[in-house]
Amino acid sequence: MDFELTADQREIQALAREVADTEIAPDAAAWDREHRFPDELFPKLAELGFMGVCVPEEYGGAGADFLSYVLVLEELSRADAGVGVTVAVHTSATTLPILAFGTEEQRSRFVPPLARGEEIGAFALTEPSSGSDAGSLRTTAEPDGDGWRITGSKQWITNGSRAGTFLLFARTDPETAGARGVSAFVLDATHVRVTREEEKLGLNSSTTSDLVLQGVRVERDRLLHEEGRGFRVAMATLDGGRIGIAAQALGIAQAAYDAAREYALEREQFGRRISEFQAIQWKLADMATEIDAARLLTYRAAWLKQQGRPHTAEGAKAKLFASETARRQTAEAIQVLGGYGYTKEFPVERYYRDAKVTEIYEGTSEIQRLVIARELLGRQLREEPVARA
Ligand code: CAA
Repeated sequence: MDFELTADQREIQALAREVADTEIAPDAAAWDREHRFPDELFPKLAELGFMGVCVPEEYGGAGADFLSYVLVLEELSRADAGVGVTVAVHTSATTLPILAFGTEEQRSRFVPPLARGEEIGAFALTEPSSGSDAGSLRTTAEPDGDGWRITGSKQWITNGSRAGTFLLFARTDPETAGARGVSAFVLDATHVRVTREEEKLGLNSSTTSDLVLQGVRVERDRLLHEEGRGFRVAMATLDGGRIGIAAQALGIAQAAYDAAREYALEREQFGRRISEFQAIQWKLADMATEIDAARLLTYRAAWLKQQGRPHTAEGAKAKLFASETARRQTAEAIQVLGGYGYTKEFPVERYYRDAKVTEIYEGTSEIQRLVIARELLGRQLREEPVARA
C-alpha cells in the first residue's frame, strides 16, 4: 500500500490550493451574500486546465488522473463549495460520461469545448416528480424522422443557466415504465429554456435552474450510447460523480476545521486560550479524525475508479461518510467559535449551510445506504419482498 501522492498529484494539488487561496477565498463571502455566479472565474480555471483536469490531452484536457481531479475539487471547495459543485457537475457529470459513452465523433465534437472550459456542462436527470426514484422520469423523446422531439421539464439543474452542453435523460420508450426505456442525449443551450432560478440555503455562488423542453427536435447524432440504455449511463455517471461530491464535502469540512483550529488558538476565555480546554481539544480531535477517514475513503474510491475497477459502493461510502462528516463538523466549528460562529463575520456559518446539500444531491444519504446495502446483499434485497407478497 502506498499512501503518498505522486509528484504530479502534489503539484496539481499545490496549484489548486494557491488558486483557491488567491482567486476564490477572498471573494467567496461576497459571492455568497450577493448570490452571484462568478462568471469571470471559470476562464481563469480553464487556463490552468481545471475545467478538464482528468480529460486526455487529445480531447483538450490536462491529461491528469482522476485522483488529481478529486484533489482539485477538494481545494476549490475548501475556498468556495459553489465553485466546487460547478466544476464537479461540469466534469464528472457531463464531460466524463460523453468521453466514456460517446462515439469517436461525439467525443471529438463535444468534449474539447468542455475540457477547455469554453463551455460549461450540466446534467439533467431530476424532474419535479422524480428525484431519488430517478427511473420514474417523465420527459419524453418521441421518434420524429431520423431523430426525436423531446418534451418535458427538469428541476434543480446545477449550471442550468450557464451551461452550453447538457447531458439530458428522456424516455424513448413510453410503453416501458421505470429505468428501462430511458435514453441519454447530448443537448445544447439552444435546446432548453431556463424557466426559474432556485433560491437555496447555501451554495449561493452556483446556479440551480428549472428547465423546460417543448417538442425540441434533436438529430440521431445527439443520442449518447444505445437507445433505451440511458439509465445505465446515468447510474455509471453518478458512480463517479459521487466521488466528486465526497471531495467537495471534504473540502468544506477541512475549511471548517481550519477555521475552528485557528480561532481556538487565538481566543482567550477564563484567562487562557480556549485550545487549552479539553472540551475544545476533543472537538478538534474528532474533527481531524473524521476528516482523515473521509479523505481515505474518497481517495480510495478515486483510485479504484482510475484503475478501471468497480467503485459503485466505494463511491457511495465515500460520499455518505464525507457528507455526514461535513454536516457534523461544520456545526462543531460553529460551536467552537460560539457567538462569532453564528455571525457572518466568520465563514463557518457559510460552510454549515453549504455542507447540508452534500447529503442530498447526487443521491441522498438514504440512497447511498441503499446502494451500499445492495452491494452487500445483492439482488436478494430487491427480490425477497416481491417473493413474499
Ligand atoms: N452502473 C451501471 N448500471 C447500473 C448501475 C450502476 N452503478 N446501477 C444500476 N444500473 C442499471 C441496472 O443494472 C439496471 O439495468 P437493466 O435494466 O439493464 O438491468 C438499471 O440500471 C436499473 O437499475 P435498478 O433496478 O437498480 O434501478 P432503481 O430504479 O432501483 O434505482 C437507484 C436505483 C440507486 C435508487 C437510482 O434511482 C438512484 O441512484 N437514485 C438517486 C438519483 C440521484 O442520485 N440523483 C442525483 C441527481 S444529479 C445531481 O444531483 C447533480 C447535481 O446537481 C449535483
